[in-house]
Amino acid sequence: MLSFSNVSAGYGGVPVLKDIGFQVADGEMVAIFGHNGAGKTTLMRCAVGDITEVSGKITWHGETIIPKAVHRNVRLGIGFVPQGHNVFRELTVRRNLTIAGLHHPDVNVEDIYRLFPILKLRGAQMASSLSGGQQQILALGMALMTKPRILLLDEPSTGLAPVIVRDVMDSLVRVNRETSTTVVIVEQNIPATLKIASRAIVLKSGRLVFDGASRELERKEDLWAWF
Ligand SMILES: Nc1ncnc2c1ncn2[C@@H]1O[C@H](COP(=O)(O)OP(=O)(O)O)[C@@H](O)[C@H]1O
Ligand SMILES: [Mg+2]
Repeated sequence: MLSFSNVSAGYGGVPVLKDIGFQVADGEMVAIFGHNGAGKTTLMRCAVGDITEVSGKITWHGETIIPKAVHRNVRLGIGFVPQGHNVFRELTVRRNLTIAGLHHPDVNVEDIYRLFPILKLRGAQMASSLSGGQQQILALGMALMTKPRILLLDEPSTGLAPVIVRDVMDSLVRVNRETSTTVVIVEQNIPATLKIASRAIVLKSGRLVFDGASRELERKEDLWAWF
């Protein structure tokens, strides 16, 4: 379980997150929504410890997430896919995957190929030659090479065509179901994300203003106006 309790965070003395509390159970798929600047990325950075100004308590399976100790936190099984297609463009698809898994000899590129056959098909190609959606799936595969038990994704569908968004969302569902990895996904594409996430959290100006079933959020007409 990932747990945030009374978490506040900011930059240069300016508060961004204010008194955030929520929990994500193992195996869940949770969406995080909010307008630009609401603090979604900051929240993800808190979960991997990639932030200096943070207070409150963040734990993962009972272990405290220590600020500024990203590598140690990642070793606890937290995978983070930051915004943008973070792949080594001038290396092949296969090389991208093997590099990502360097410190995890028990994970095999073939496992990732089985999950995402498109990566096997393109294994010998430069990552730069992949489409945006394929690069996003490669970034996802790279995160999986670290054998995470929870996967945090920051706007994986941004900049992708609608039909490709569906591919990426389907990939996340497959990861969640087939590898029983917990998934937390920050998204701007609310309709596409509500289809795959059973629960949603909404941030507004750094505060948590909704935490409940996706179906309930869909019914809250007034809440949409907040985005
Ligand atoms: N590295 C940073 N230094 C200073 N301010 C930042 C930094 N990163 C984000 N912020 C500020 O924190 C607020 C929340 O940003 P962010 O968490 O990126 O929001 P979101 O991902 O929801 O768009 C914004 O006002 C942003 O300008
Ligand atoms: Mg962001």
